[in-house]
Amino acid sequence: MLRRLHQDQPESFAFTPDNLAWAEAQMTKYPAGRQASAVIPLLWRAQEQEGWLTRPAIEGVAEMLGMPYMRVLEVASFYFMFQLQPVGSVAHVQICGTTSCMICGAEDLIAVCKDMIAPKAHQVSEDGKFSWEEVECLGACTNAPMAQIGKDYYEDLTEDSLRDLLTRLGKGEVPQVGPQNGRFASEPKSGITSLTEYVNASIKLNASAQLADDIGDTVKRIDGTEVPLRAPWGNASEKTTAGEPAEGAKPAAPAPSKTKAAEALKPAPQAKPESDGENVGTKPEALDAPKGGEADDLKRIKGIGPKLEKLCNALGFYHFDQIAAWTEDEVAWVDANLEGFKGRVTRDAWVSQAKTLASGGETEFSSRVKKGDVYE
Ligand code: FES
Repeated sequence: MLRRLHQDQPESFAFTPDNLAWAEAQMTKYPAGRQASAVIPLLWRAQEQEGWLTRPAIEGVAEMLGMPYMRVLEVASFYFMFQLQPVGSVAHVQICGTTSCMICGAEDLIAVCKDMIAPKAHQVSEDGKFSWEEVECLGACTNAPMAQIGKDYYEDLTEDSLRDLLTRLGKGEVPQVGPQNGRFASEPKSGITSLTEYVNASIKLNASAQLADDIGDTVKRIDGTEVPLRAPWGNASEKTTAGEPAEGAKPAAPAPSKTKAAEALKPAPQAKPESDGENVGTKPEALDAPKGGEADDLKRIKGIGPKLEKLCNALGFYHFDQIAAWTEDEVAWVDANLEGFKGRVTRDAWVSQAKTLASGGETEFSSRVKKGDVYE
């Protein structure tokens, strides 16, 4: 299916302060330079906050993670979990239409969606509460046909049971997830014939249905107000009373840049002021213009793209030998003064790369640039 950005997009996107704290904590899970690994959690959080993934949200996440927009769009447009258009305020219904479900009645379920929600997939119902789409196998084939509604699975569906579910959800109820035909899990409809000694009448729901029931967030969107808001690998994102991330919650990645999208990600009232970059370290010797009128191609240093190269030039840095000569103190100054890319010199080890390049050698990255394997 063609998955494109929606034609109507909002002007901007901003994480709420709590969601921003959570997102920054996610980024601390990965080693310096690997913050792109947080792309799915951050996109998911943005979607949970807004209901769907807007272009400004995708761009904002890209800025936060130092990724090209296209890379983040590729992720967002690949996974069906990401909605690229507005969805119903109560729930987006995903009907599995793959083989098992199709044989067992998925087409009837789709007919119910067309009748009760909207004639076409991805259209929002007239009351704004629901939207629907057909998706590929969701891995619950033994309980076909099934649908994912919100975050959970409703299985062993019939036309009538889906109608009933949608009616109840529309009234604000959250019907019990899992099999809808009395099955405990995926045992034969006639009942189990083995391992009967493990049957315990006091256990009403199977493990995943029970967990879904316990958590109770089937159609609730995560909005950042959950308590506790903390990173399970530490207390990095534990909330302070001001709703700011606790000490240590700052990511190893650079601070958000000042582009429109990244700027929007900053929660104005709660944001901690960035440290005053100009007071950190010592400014390295800069040039007014490149030596001999020709600058080195700084993009041969891994981590420097066209934008950063321009920024370096604007600060008076044009050559590998300039960067190769930076002291620790000077690195600290440059790191603090790369607006929108703070910390990149250390993160990407510019100095050691520049030393190799200044002496006429090649790094693994610069060799790939030479071969044309690296796209800007
Ligand atoms: S075919 Fe529907 S869940 Fe696998």
